[in-house]
Amino acid sequence: MDISESVEAILSDKRVMCDLFYKRFLEKHPEARQYFADVDMTKQANFLTIALAIIEDHYEHEYQATEHYLKVLGTRHRNWGIPVELYAPFRDCLLATMAEFHGDEWTEELAGQWRKAIEKATETMLEGYSQTYIY
Ligand code: HEM
Repeated sequence: MDISESVEAILSDKRVMCDLFYKRFLEKHPEARQYFADVDMTKQANFLTIALAIIEDHYEHEYQATEHYLKVLGTRHRNWGIPVELYAPFRDCLLATMAEFHGDEWTEELAGQWRKAIEKATETMLEGYSQTYIY
């Protein structure tokens, strides 16, 4: 399985991998709970699922539209007060949840592709911290 087959499996599964991710992330990082106090977590899991498709597209193709989307997303996170230090735990927990979701189909190679894709997306989002991007 490669990263594009992985994103297809995540998008087409009824279990919503991202629901499981937020559960794990907030259990492991109670310091992050304050930011989600007024957030509808069902919607949030759907937003993140779609963002994973964008992250995969940005990793494979570096489209201008995906780059701009991620910069705007970064500016929005800055405005919500999300600390930069939470991005690494967020990435690690996302990788661990993906591994759990894919089971036997999870490989070192797939883990490496997702790690690079998430890191690239994070770098782009953080550009939206130092400069303001809007839709
Ligand atoms: C690769 C990293 C990340 C991605 C791709 C991502 C993705 C998203 C997306 C797509 C949304 C919905 C955006 C919108 O409504 O316009 C969102 C909202 C949010 N994210 Fe992230 N996120 C990331 C990192 C983080 C981190 C590290 C935190 C730390 C706690 C975080 C906390 C939040 C919160 C609290 C909201 C909702 C804010 C609100 O609606 O009031 N995110 N994120």
